[in-house]
Amino acid sequence: MSKLRQLGQSEIKLSPLGIGTWQFSNKGGTWDAVSAETVYNILKYSLQHGLNWIDTAEIYGRGISETLIGKALKKLAEENAIPFSPFIADKWFPLLRPANNITETIQERLTCLQRPVIDLYQIHQPTSISSLQKQIERMAGLVEQGIIKAVGVSNFSANGMRKADKLLKQYGLRLASNQVKYNLLHRNPERNGVIEAAKELGISIIAYSPLQQGVLTGRFHNNPESVSSISRLRRLHSNISSKSLKRTKPLIDILCKIGNYYGKTPAQISLNWLIYSQEELVFAIPGATRIEQAESNVKTLDFSLSRKDIDLLNNVSANL
Ligand SMILES: NC(=O)c1ccc[n+]([C@@H]2O[C@H](COP(=O)([O-])OP(=O)(O)OC[C@H]3O[C@@H](n4cnc5c(N)ncnc54)[C@H](OP(=O)(O)O)[C@@H]3O)[C@@H](O)[C@H]2O)c1
Repeated sequence: MSKLRQLGQSEIKLSPLGIGTWQFSNKGGTWDAVSAETVYNILKYSLQHGLNWIDTAEIYGRGISETLIGKALKKLAEENAIPFSPFIADKWFPLLRPANNITETIQERLTCLQRPVIDLYQIHQPTSISSLQKQIERMAGLVEQGIIKAVGVSNFSANGMRKADKLLKQYGLRLASNQVKYNLLHRNPERNGVIEAAKELGISIIAYSPLQQGVLTGRFHNNPESVSSISRLRRLHSNISSKSLKRTKPLIDILCKIGNYYGKTPAQISLNWLIYSQEELVFAIPGATRIEQAESNVKTLDFSLSRKDIDLLNNVSANL
């Protein structure tokens, strides 16, 4: 297994890469459906080759992603295919819901996942009917009961992180992580204070859309016609258009050049930049819909970019 990193100031130790599973929603219009067999194969391969955790959310198919994970992990346990129990990061969706929904729905999460405990429970985004104080109170109650081990947030600003961490301190807890969009084409967390706050407070960053939903693999640059085959939502979410592909081509070229030197793909170089450019602060959770992608993504863990190459990528991506 790759060298593990501490999640925030919790006792949880995670591989620098986790397994993203929005792809296992099987509805919602962003991703094509993924079969239960493919989910099983992706999890099995990833967990046998250095990854030790999975990121999911209630909202990913309203329990479908969690259920597919639960079934696959049960089968893997029955087969003794993995010599450990993977960590699970799940998320509660706060939009138009009050804080008491956190405790009302937790049993459903555990049932879907077929587990007694969730390791990291994250507030999926900052908008809710209830105050953050009430949401944190519910989360802290779940920690107290031993149902969740650590509390995280997602899509929170630097101020939101500070506020959540301060509220958790009242219960003797700390904020473990903030999950945000972060990749070589979306470096906003470096500019909006999120990375700075995370470093200052000892909070981990979990980078979602680490491949800008496939753009950083170079596949759309190599085959621009293929853009028409992906969902409109995905094109919007990751700004995938002929104009943006033209603008970002210099980065893909440098990813290919550095990749040739290391014997790695642009995707592997992009993920490696995420997990090493900020020392041990950032975890990345690439999603995969095919076993070949999972195989490629785990091979990010067997090398590390030199400081010189990280700086080069920083410069090129800053000037697009
Ligand atoms: N907290 C939040 O608000 C939030 C938001 C978004 C995502 N997330 C989490 O972050 C995870 C990852 O983010 P994401 O799914 O948006 O984007 P991503 O990981 O950047 O992109 C995933 C897509 O890239 C392609 N891909 C992945 N690995 C590849 C490889 N090695 N070679 C070629 N193509 C590859 C696949 O596209 P194809 O399927 O087309 O082949 C895959 O579905 C999600 O699964 C989810 O767990 C969280």
